[in-house]
Amino acid sequence: MDVQRSTFDVSPIRALLPENAPAFRRALFSWYRKNGRDLPWRRTRDPYAILVSEIMLQQTQVATVLPYYREWLRRFPDFPTLAAAAESDVLHAWQGLGYYARARNLHAAAKAIVSRQSRSFPAEVTALRALPGLGRYTANAVATFAFEQSVPVVETNIARLLARLINLQLTIDSAAGSAAVWTLAGALIPKRRASQFNSALMDLGALICTARQPKCGQCPVRKFCAAIDPASLPRKRARTPTKLLIENHAFTLRRGRVLLEQSQKRWRGMWMLPRLTRTSKPAPVYRAEFPFTHHRITLTVFTAPPAGTPHRKWFSPSQIETLPIPSPHRRALRALLDP
Ligand code: ADE
Repeated sequence: MDVQRSTFDVSPIRALLPENAPAFRRALFSWYRKNGRDLPWRRTRDPYAILVSEIMLQQTQVATVLPYYREWLRRFPDFPTLAAAAESDVLHAWQGLGYYARARNLHAAAKAIVSRQSRSFPAEVTALRALPGLGRYTANAVATFAFEQSVPVVETNIARLLARLINLQLTIDSAAGSAAVWTLAGALIPKRRASQFNSALMDLGALICTARQPKCGQCPVRKFCAAIDPASLPRKRARTPTKLLIENHAFTLRRGRVLLEQSQKRWRGMWMLPRLTRTSKPAPVYRAEFPFTHHRITLTVFTAPPAGTPHRKWFSPSQIETLPIPSPHRRALRALLDP
Protein backbone atom coordinates (compact mmCIF):
# COMPACT_ATOMS: atom_id res chain seq x y z
CA MET A 1 0.00 0.00 0.00
CA ASP A 2 1.43 3.37 -0.93
CA VAL A 3 -0.96 5.51 1.09
CA GLN A 4 -0.74 6.00 4.83
CA ARG A 5 -4.00 5.82 6.72
CA SER A 6 -4.80 5.75 10.37
CA THR A 7 -6.16 2.50 11.68
CA PHE A 8 -8.26 4.60 14.06
CA ASP A 9 -10.10 6.54 11.36
CA VAL A 10 -13.68 6.47 12.58
CA SER A 11 -15.09 9.01 10.12
CA PRO A 12 -18.22 7.83 8.29
CA ILE A 13 -17.53 5.82 5.17
CA ARG A 14 -17.42 8.57 2.57
CA ALA A 15 -18.51 6.48 -0.40
CA LEU A 16 -21.74 5.76 1.44
CA LEU A 17 -22.73 9.39 1.95
CA PRO A 18 -25.25 10.34 -0.74
CA GLU A 19 -23.91 13.91 -0.86
CA ASN A 20 -20.57 12.52 -2.02
CA ALA A 21 -21.98 10.62 -5.01
CA PRO A 22 -21.75 13.56 -7.49
CA ALA A 23 -18.09 14.28 -6.63
CA PHE A 24 -17.28 10.58 -6.82
CA ARG A 25 -18.83 10.36 -10.30
CA ARG A 26 -17.05 13.49 -11.51
CA ALA A 27 -13.67 12.14 -10.40
CA LEU A 28 -14.40 8.78 -11.99
CA PHE A 29 -15.61 10.22 -15.31
CA SER A 30 -12.66 12.53 -15.61
CA TRP A 31 -10.25 9.61 -15.04
CA TYR A 32 -12.18 7.44 -17.53
CA ARG A 33 -12.02 10.02 -20.31
CA LYS A 34 -8.23 9.82 -20.20
CA ASN A 35 -7.70 6.20 -19.22
CA GLY A 36 -10.73 4.15 -20.32
CA ARG A 37 -10.10 1.07 -22.46
CA ASP A 38 -11.23 1.03 -26.06
CA LEU A 39 -12.97 -2.34 -26.28
CA PRO A 40 -14.92 -3.52 -29.34
CA TRP A 41 -18.15 -4.16 -27.40
CA ARG A 42 -18.06 -0.55 -26.24
CA ARG A 43 -18.32 0.63 -29.84
CA THR A 44 -21.72 -0.92 -30.37
CA ARG A 45 -25.23 -0.74 -28.93
CA ASP A 46 -26.27 -3.99 -30.58
CA PRO A 47 -27.78 -6.08 -27.76
CA TYR A 48 -26.68 -9.27 -29.50
CA ALA A 49 -23.00 -8.27 -29.65
CA ILE A 50 -23.16 -6.98 -26.08
CA LEU A 51 -24.75 -10.17 -24.80
CA VAL A 52 -22.07 -12.25 -26.55
CA SER A 53 -19.30 -10.15 -24.99
CA GLU A 54 -20.77 -10.28 -21.49
CA ILE A 55 -21.29 -14.03 -21.57
CA MET A 56 -17.73 -14.56 -22.81
CA LEU A 57 -16.38 -12.18 -20.15
CA GLN A 58 -18.15 -13.99 -17.31
CA GLN A 59 -15.31 -16.39 -16.63
CA THR A 60 -12.66 -15.26 -19.08
CA GLN A 61 -10.15 -12.38 -19.23
CA VAL A 62 -10.58 -9.54 -21.71
CA ALA A 63 -7.39 -10.39 -23.65
CA THR A 64 -8.53 -13.99 -24.19
CA VAL A 65 -12.05 -12.94 -25.16
CA LEU A 66 -11.05 -10.41 -27.86
CA PRO A 67 -10.22 -12.85 -30.73
CA TYR A 68 -13.14 -15.15 -29.83
CA TYR A 69 -15.56 -12.22 -29.79
CA ARG A 70 -14.51 -11.08 -33.29
CA GLU A 71 -14.60 -14.57 -34.76
CA TRP A 72 -17.95 -15.34 -33.12
CA LEU A 73 -19.57 -12.22 -34.64
CA ARG A 74 -18.13 -13.11 -38.03
CA ARG A 75 -19.54 -16.64 -37.79
CA PHE A 76 -22.84 -15.82 -36.06
CA PRO A 77 -23.52 -12.11 -36.73
CA ASP A 78 -26.99 -11.98 -35.17
CA PHE A 79 -29.59 -13.88 -33.15
CA PRO A 80 -31.27 -15.58 -36.16
CA THR A 81 -27.94 -16.92 -37.46
CA LEU A 82 -26.99 -18.24 -34.05
CA ALA A 83 -30.45 -19.72 -33.46
CA ALA A 84 -30.23 -21.62 -36.76
CA ALA A 85 -26.69 -22.96 -36.16
CA ALA A 86 -25.95 -26.59 -35.28
CA GLU A 87 -24.89 -27.17 -31.68
CA SER A 88 -21.58 -28.67 -32.83
CA ASP A 89 -20.72 -25.44 -34.73
CA VAL A 90 -21.61 -23.38 -31.68
CA LEU A 91 -19.41 -25.52 -29.43
CA HIS A 92 -16.63 -25.42 -32.03
CA ALA A 93 -16.66 -21.60 -32.03
CA TRP A 94 -16.53 -21.62 -28.21
CA GLN A 95 -13.75 -24.22 -28.14
CA GLY A 96 -10.91 -23.09 -25.87
CA LEU A 97 -13.04 -20.69 -23.78
CA GLY A 98 -14.23 -23.47 -21.45
CA TYR A 99 -17.40 -23.42 -19.32
CA TYR A 100 -19.40 -24.62 -22.30
CA ALA A 101 -22.73 -24.17 -20.51
CA ARG A 102 -22.30 -20.51 -21.48
CA ALA A 103 -22.31 -21.38 -25.19
CA ARG A 104 -25.29 -23.69 -24.79
CA ASN A 105 -27.21 -20.99 -22.92
CA LEU A 106 -26.35 -18.34 -25.50
CA HIS A 107 -27.58 -20.69 -28.23
CA ALA A 108 -30.79 -21.36 -26.25
CA ALA A 109 -31.26 -17.60 -25.65
CA ALA A 110 -30.98 -16.95 -29.40
CA LYS A 111 -33.61 -19.61 -30.08
CA ALA A 112 -35.88 -18.12 -27.40
CA ILE A 113 -35.57 -14.65 -28.94
CA VAL A 114 -36.31 -15.68 -32.52
CA SER A 115 -39.33 -17.62 -31.31
CA ARG A 116 -40.74 -14.56 -29.51
CA GLN A 117 -43.83 -13.23 -31.18
CA SER A 118 -42.23 -9.84 -31.74
CA ARG A 119 -38.86 -11.45 -32.65
CA SER A 120 -37.39 -8.47 -30.83
CA PHE A 121 -34.87 -8.40 -28.06
CA PRO A 122 -36.28 -7.58 -24.62
CA ALA A 123 -35.02 -4.30 -23.19
CA GLU A 124 -36.42 -4.75 -19.70
CA VAL A 125 -34.24 -6.29 -17.03
CA THR A 126 -37.00 -8.63 -15.84
CA ALA A 127 -37.62 -9.96 -19.37
CA LEU A 128 -33.87 -10.28 -19.94
CA ARG A 129 -33.52 -12.38 -16.80
CA ALA A 130 -36.03 -14.86 -18.15
CA LEU A 131 -33.56 -15.79 -20.91
CA PRO A 132 -31.40 -18.90 -20.37
CA GLY A 133 -28.10 -18.11 -18.65
CA LEU A 134 -28.89 -14.49 -17.78
CA GLY A 135 -28.55 -13.74 -14.08
CA ARG A 136 -28.67 -10.33 -12.48
CA TYR A 137 -25.22 -9.36 -13.67
CA THR A 138 -25.68 -10.22 -17.36
CA ALA A 139 -29.23 -8.88 -17.59
CA ASN A 140 -28.13 -5.57 -16.05
CA ALA A 141 -25.02 -5.40 -18.23
CA VAL A 142 -27.12 -5.72 -21.41
CA ALA A 143 -29.68 -3.24 -20.06
CA THR A 144 -27.02 -0.65 -19.33
CA PHE A 145 -24.63 -1.14 -22.28
CA ALA A 146 -27.25 -1.70 -24.99
CA PHE A 147 -30.18 0.32 -23.66
CA GLU A 148 -28.47 2.90 -21.43
CA GLN A 149 -30.56 1.95 -18.42
CA SER A 150 -29.48 3.23 -15.04
CA VAL A 151 -28.87 -0.14 -13.39
CA PRO A 152 -25.78 -1.31 -11.50
CA VAL A 153 -23.48 -4.07 -12.68
CA VAL A 154 -21.13 -5.80 -10.29
CA GLU A 155 -18.52 -8.12 -11.79
CA THR A 156 -15.27 -9.15 -10.14
CA ASN A 157 -13.44 -5.86 -10.73
CA ILE A 158 -16.27 -3.68 -9.49
CA ALA A 159 -16.94 -5.93 -6.49
CA ARG A 160 -13.29 -5.62 -5.43
CA LEU A 161 -13.27 -1.84 -5.88
CA LEU A 162 -16.53 -1.32 -3.97
CA ALA A 163 -15.53 -3.70 -1.17
CA ARG A 164 -12.39 -1.62 -0.69
CA LEU A 165 -14.24 1.70 -0.86
CA ILE A 166 -16.29 0.73 2.19
CA ASN A 167 -13.60 -1.46 3.79
CA LEU A 168 -16.03 -4.37 3.65
CA GLN A 169 -15.15 -7.08 6.15
CA LEU A 170 -17.91 -9.46 5.04
CA THR A 171 -16.81 -12.09 2.54
CA ILE A 172 -17.61 -10.98 -0.99
CA ASP A 173 -19.02 -14.38 -1.95
CA SER A 174 -21.52 -14.42 0.93
CA ALA A 175 -25.10 -13.28 0.42
CA ALA A 176 -24.60 -10.33 2.78
CA GLY A 177 -21.28 -9.27 1.24
CA SER A 178 -22.67 -9.44 -2.28
CA ALA A 179 -25.80 -7.52 -1.22
CA ALA A 180 -23.60 -4.78 0.29
CA VAL A 181 -21.66 -4.13 -2.94
CA TRP A 182 -24.76 -4.33 -5.16
CA THR A 183 -26.51 -1.82 -2.89
CA LEU A 184 -23.55 0.53 -3.03
CA ALA A 185 -23.34 0.19 -6.82
CA GLY A 186 -27.05 1.03 -7.00
CA ALA A 187 -26.56 4.11 -4.82
CA LEU A 188 -23.66 5.44 -6.90
CA ILE A 189 -25.09 4.91 -10.40
CA PRO A 190 -26.13 8.14 -12.13
CA LYS A 191 -29.44 8.52 -13.97
CA ARG A 192 -27.67 9.57 -17.15
CA ARG A 193 -24.59 8.05 -18.77
CA ALA A 194 -24.99 4.91 -16.69
CA SER A 195 -23.17 2.77 -19.27
CA GLN A 196 -20.12 5.02 -19.17
CA PHE A 197 -20.21 5.01 -15.39
CA ASN A 198 -20.31 1.22 -15.29
CA SER A 199 -17.49 0.93 -17.84
CA ALA A 200 -15.46 3.41 -15.83
CA LEU A 201 -15.89 1.44 -12.60
CA MET A 202 -14.83 -1.73 -14.40
CA ASP A 203 -11.73 -0.09 -15.81
CA LEU A 204 -10.77 1.50 -12.52
CA GLY A 205 -11.03 -1.96 -10.95
CA ALA A 206 -9.11 -3.62 -13.78
CA LEU A 207 -6.34 -1.01 -14.14
CA ILE A 208 -5.88 0.75 -10.77
CA CYS A 209 -7.75 -1.09 -8.03
CA THR A 210 -6.07 -4.35 -9.01
CA ALA A 211 -6.26 -7.51 -6.93
CA ARG A 212 -2.58 -7.48 -6.04
CA GLN A 213 -0.63 -4.26 -5.44
CA PRO A 214 -3.43 -1.74 -6.08
CA LYS A 215 -2.11 1.58 -7.40
CA CYS A 216 -3.72 3.73 -4.70
CA GLY A 217 -1.30 6.59 -5.48
CA GLN A 218 -2.92 6.95 -8.93
CA CYS A 219 -6.52 6.42 -7.83
CA PRO A 220 -8.94 9.22 -8.72
CA VAL A 221 -11.39 8.27 -5.95
CA ARG A 222 -8.85 7.70 -3.21
CA LYS A 223 -10.34 10.35 -0.98
CA PHE A 224 -13.60 8.39 -0.86
CA CYS A 225 -11.91 5.12 0.02
CA ALA A 226 -12.10 3.62 3.52
CA ALA A 227 -9.83 0.63 2.89
CA ILE A 228 -7.16 0.22 5.54
CA ASP A 229 -5.35 -2.70 3.93
CA PRO A 230 -6.73 -2.68 0.35
CA ALA A 231 -4.67 -5.62 -0.89
CA SER A 232 -6.33 -7.86 1.73
CA LEU A 233 -9.80 -7.05 0.34
CA PRO A 234 -12.19 -8.37 -0.73
CA ARG A 235 -12.29 -11.15 1.83
CA LYS A 236 -13.28 -14.48 0.36
CA ARG A 237 -14.71 -17.64 1.78
CA ALA A 238 -12.24 -20.51 2.15
CA ARG A 239 -11.79 -22.20 -1.19
CA THR A 240 -13.04 -25.72 -1.86
CA PRO A 241 -9.86 -27.82 -1.83
CA THR A 242 -8.65 -29.00 -5.23
CA LYS A 243 -9.12 -32.71 -5.88
CA LEU A 244 -6.56 -34.64 -7.89
CA LEU A 245 -7.91 -37.02 -10.51
CA ILE A 246 -6.29 -39.28 -13.08
CA GLU A 247 -8.31 -39.93 -16.23
CA ASN A 248 -7.26 -42.57 -18.74
CA HIS A 249 -8.12 -42.30 -22.43
CA ALA A 250 -7.34 -44.27 -25.58
CA PHE A 251 -5.52 -43.22 -28.72
CA THR A 252 -6.53 -45.55 -31.54
CA LEU A 253 -5.31 -44.91 -35.05
CA ARG A 254 -6.46 -47.01 -38.04
CA ARG A 255 -5.72 -46.18 -41.68
CA GLY A 256 -4.94 -42.60 -40.76
CA ARG A 257 -8.16 -42.11 -38.83
CA VAL A 258 -8.64 -41.66 -35.10
CA LEU A 259 -11.39 -43.12 -32.95
CA LEU A 260 -13.19 -40.44 -30.90
CA GLU A 261 -16.06 -40.54 -28.44
CA GLN A 262 -18.81 -37.97 -28.09
CA SER A 263 -18.96 -36.91 -24.44
CA GLN A 264 -22.30 -37.43 -22.70
CA LYS A 265 -21.24 -35.74 -19.48
CA ARG A 266 -18.71 -33.04 -18.66
CA TRP A 267 -18.27 -31.88 -22.27
CA ARG A 268 -21.65 -33.01 -23.55
CA GLY A 269 -21.75 -32.94 -27.34
CA MET A 270 -18.00 -32.44 -27.75
CA TRP A 271 -15.61 -35.11 -29.03
CA MET A 272 -12.75 -36.54 -26.98
CA LEU A 273 -10.35 -39.46 -26.87
CA PRO A 274 -12.41 -42.50 -25.76
CA ARG A 275 -12.42 -43.21 -22.04
CA LEU A 276 -10.50 -46.24 -20.82
CA THR A 277 -11.65 -48.02 -17.72
CA ARG A 278 -8.65 -50.34 -17.70
CA THR A 279 -5.23 -49.43 -19.02
CA SER A 280 -3.81 -51.95 -21.41
CA LYS A 281 -0.15 -51.02 -21.58
CA PRO A 282 2.13 -49.83 -18.84
CA ALA A 283 3.57 -46.81 -20.64
CA PRO A 284 1.27 -43.91 -21.59
CA VAL A 285 1.94 -42.17 -24.92
CA TYR A 286 0.85 -38.79 -23.58
CA ARG A 287 0.32 -37.20 -20.21
CA ALA A 288 -0.72 -33.65 -19.27
CA GLU A 289 -2.46 -31.86 -16.42
CA PHE A 290 -5.34 -29.45 -16.72
CA PRO A 291 -7.67 -27.70 -14.25
CA PHE A 292 -11.40 -28.33 -14.23
CA THR A 293 -13.52 -26.45 -11.65
CA HIS A 294 -12.24 -27.80 -8.30
CA HIS A 295 -10.16 -30.55 -9.87
CA ARG A 296 -6.66 -30.93 -11.15
CA ILE A 297 -6.90 -33.67 -13.74
CA THR A 298 -4.06 -35.72 -15.18
CA LEU A 299 -5.05 -36.76 -18.66
CA THR A 300 -3.21 -39.98 -19.44
CA VAL A 301 -3.41 -41.48 -22.92
CA PHE A 302 -2.57 -45.06 -23.92
CA THR A 303 -2.60 -46.68 -27.34
CA ALA A 304 -5.44 -49.18 -27.38
CA PRO A 305 -7.22 -51.49 -29.82
CA PRO A 306 -10.54 -50.24 -31.20
CA ALA A 307 -13.54 -50.74 -28.95
CA GLY A 308 -16.78 -49.87 -30.69
CA THR A 309 -19.01 -48.79 -27.85
CA PRO A 310 -21.83 -46.31 -28.59
CA HIS A 311 -21.02 -42.66 -29.32
CA ARG A 312 -17.70 -43.53 -30.99
CA LYS A 313 -16.68 -42.70 -34.55
CA TRP A 314 -13.58 -42.59 -36.76
CA PHE A 315 -12.32 -39.20 -37.98
CA SER A 316 -9.57 -38.08 -40.32
CA PRO A 317 -7.18 -35.33 -39.12
CA SER A 318 -8.91 -32.75 -41.34
CA GLN A 319 -12.34 -33.69 -39.96
CA ILE A 320 -10.92 -33.39 -36.45
CA GLU A 321 -10.16 -29.71 -37.09
CA THR A 322 -13.87 -28.98 -37.59
CA LEU A 323 -15.11 -30.90 -34.53
CA PRO A 324 -15.72 -29.33 -31.13
CA ILE A 325 -13.02 -30.87 -28.92
CA PRO A 326 -12.19 -29.75 -25.37
CA SER A 327 -8.75 -28.09 -25.21
CA PRO A 328 -6.92 -30.76 -23.18
CA HIS A 329 -7.96 -33.42 -25.70
CA ARG A 330 -7.21 -31.19 -28.68
CA ARG A 331 -3.69 -30.63 -27.34
CA ALA A 332 -3.25 -34.38 -26.85
CA LEU A 333 -4.45 -35.07 -30.41
CA ARG A 334 -2.12 -32.46 -31.89
CA ALA A 335 0.83 -33.94 -30.00
CA LEU A 336 -0.05 -37.51 -30.96
CA LEU A 337 -0.85 -36.83 -34.62
CA ASP A 338 2.08 -34.50 -35.25
CA PRO A 339 4.86 -35.64 -32.93
N1 ADE B 1 -15.95 -7.72 -17.74
C1 ADE B 1 -17.27 -8.01 -17.80
N2 ADE B 1 -17.90 -7.18 -18.62
C2 ADE B 1 -16.97 -6.36 -19.13
C3 ADE B 1 -17.00 -5.31 -20.04
N3 ADE B 1 -18.14 -4.95 -20.62
N4 ADE B 1 -15.85 -4.66 -20.31
C4 ADE B 1 -14.71 -5.05 -19.71
N5 ADE B 1 -14.62 -6.04 -18.85
C5 ADE B 1 -15.73 -6.70 -18.56
